[in-house]
Amino acid sequence: MHAAATTPFIHVFEPGTDAAGAPLLLLHGTGGNERDLLPLGRMAAPGASLLSPRGQVLEGTMPRFFRRLSEGVLDEDDLRRRTHELADFIEEARARYDLAPPTALGFSNGANIAASLLLLRPEVLAGAALLRAMSPYAQPPKADLAGKRVLLLSGGLDPIVAEEDAARLAATLADDGAAVEHRTLPVGHGLSQADVGLLRGWLA
Ligand code: MLT
Repeated sequence: MHAAATTPFIHVFEPGTDAAGAPLLLLHGTGGNERDLLPLGRMAAPGASLLSPRGQVLEGTMPRFFRRLSEGVLDEDDLRRRTHELADFIEEARARYDLAPPTALGFSNGANIAASLLLLRPEVLAGAALLRAMSPYAQPPKADLAGKRVLLLSGGLDPIVAEEDAARLAATLADDGAAVEHRTLPVGHGLSQADVGLLRGWLA
């Protein structure tokens, strides 16, 4: 069943069959939409409820979750504002669909706002799988991430996210108390079969 949005975020909600499993919050990359990650979500967490919003910023015709100044250079003020809007949407959707706190599954731009959610509004997420995320803030705010699990999957050949930057994000989240698993795969910015296997294992 797909529900229509009453919140400002266009989104898809697919109720799960596994009541015990945490729902997944799917956050697409630049130019994607609310349908992009549904197949990945179904594959990675069979039976989980899926909540998938569309980013509200347009870069040309490409939806994103927040503005950037250039490729790899994030507009931090816009990111802060959009992070709070997304967190408010998650809270509304949880009440509306009767959901436990979701685990975010974000790719690229979606992974970056998921990392920002962990830093600014950690209470709205149970944890996060961040695929090709970068450090969203030059000076990351302190957050209490005790009890949160984070999977960070980076590409060793990623032309957008430098290895040191991904490592810095992993260190920030671990310093804040998250249980971080960081793997660097021999791939670029795009997703690979290896991502799907690791994601599935981590979510199981
Ligand atoms: C971003 O702007 O979030 C990053 O540059 C990743 C991307 O969307 O290409």
